[in-house]
Amino acid sequence: MNKTKNKYCDNFLGWALSERNLSWSGYRKVRGQVCKRIKRRIEELGLEGYSHYRQYLEENAEEWKVFDRMARITISRFFRDRAVWHSLGETLLPLIVEKSLKEERKTRCWSAGSASGEEPYSLAILWKNRIQPRFPDAIPEIVATDADCHMIKRAEKGCYSLGSLKELPEEWIRDAFTTEESAYCLKDSYKEMVRFYPQDIREEMPGGKFDLVFCKNLVSMYFKKELAVSVFSKMIRKMRKGALLILGNHEQFPLDEIKEISPFDKNLNIYFKNRA
Ligand SMILES: C[S@@+](CC[C@H](N)C(=O)[O-])C[C@H]1O[C@@H](n2cnc3c(N)ncnc32)[C@H](O)[C@@H]1O
Repeated sequence: MNKTKNKYCDNFLGWALSERNLSWSGYRKVRGQVCKRIKRRIEELGLEGYSHYRQYLEENAEEWKVFDRMARITISRFFRDRAVWHSLGETLLPLIVEKSLKEERKTRCWSAGSASGEEPYSLAILWKNRIQPRFPDAIPEIVATDADCHMIKRAEKGCYSLGSLKELPEEWIRDAFTTEESAYCLKDSYKEMVRFYPQDIREEMPGGKFDLVFCKNLVSMYFKKELAVSVFSKMIRKMRKGALLILGNHEQFPLDEIKEISPFDKNLNIYFKNRA
């Protein structure tokens, strides 16, 4: 794409993201990918350019669903931000699990924006390797949600390229996956630990309260502040007192707006709910 075409797409994208309460700054690095999808859509509709597509969106409210799909960035990998997973396995999960065992209940975890399952399955793998041997009576309940139905289907299938497993110890890969042609497919005993739901976090969230919530590379990254505050406010109602919230590296929680959350580990970008 040349510079002029980039400018047309940027202008269009700036307008469309703003209409959807999405943040331009979050898209800066991935805008090329989104522009390619939009260009393809314009061709598919037989329209002449971005201004016509803008008009088409203004006249066809249903088309915003297509735009939303094009604007979703679905990159993920197992054990993304490895230091967080190390800390979870060594100290944080044991603390959470001890508390839920004392209260004689399951340990409930939610991966919001779970893409093709890499994040909730990382937790399942960590649980089997680090938590189960130490706390054999503890029962995990891992819920994963994503707005993209294709991602949910891929997650339920549970097959990945070796590249997305590169942060996992080799021994854990050998235990958890079988190889099918060139794909690494997660064994059923791990897949059974996670339940996936297609949910748009702007509209719905899973039931019950959670001890641990992952919201990495979604709300803080791609939503405008006002939308992020509204979604986080609902999300923290889904957390027990003392529950942990994990954001992606470089993401920020709106601490100035939501007082029920405090930083837990600033380096790892982990927060906790400070009141019921
Ligand atoms: C960049 S991926 C992050 C995946 C994983 N959390 C991680 O950090 O590796 C963002 C995911 O959020 C999903 N997503 C985007 N908008 C959403 C929304 N409104 N509700 C739920 N999921 C959404 C996308 O489909 C995508 O799978």
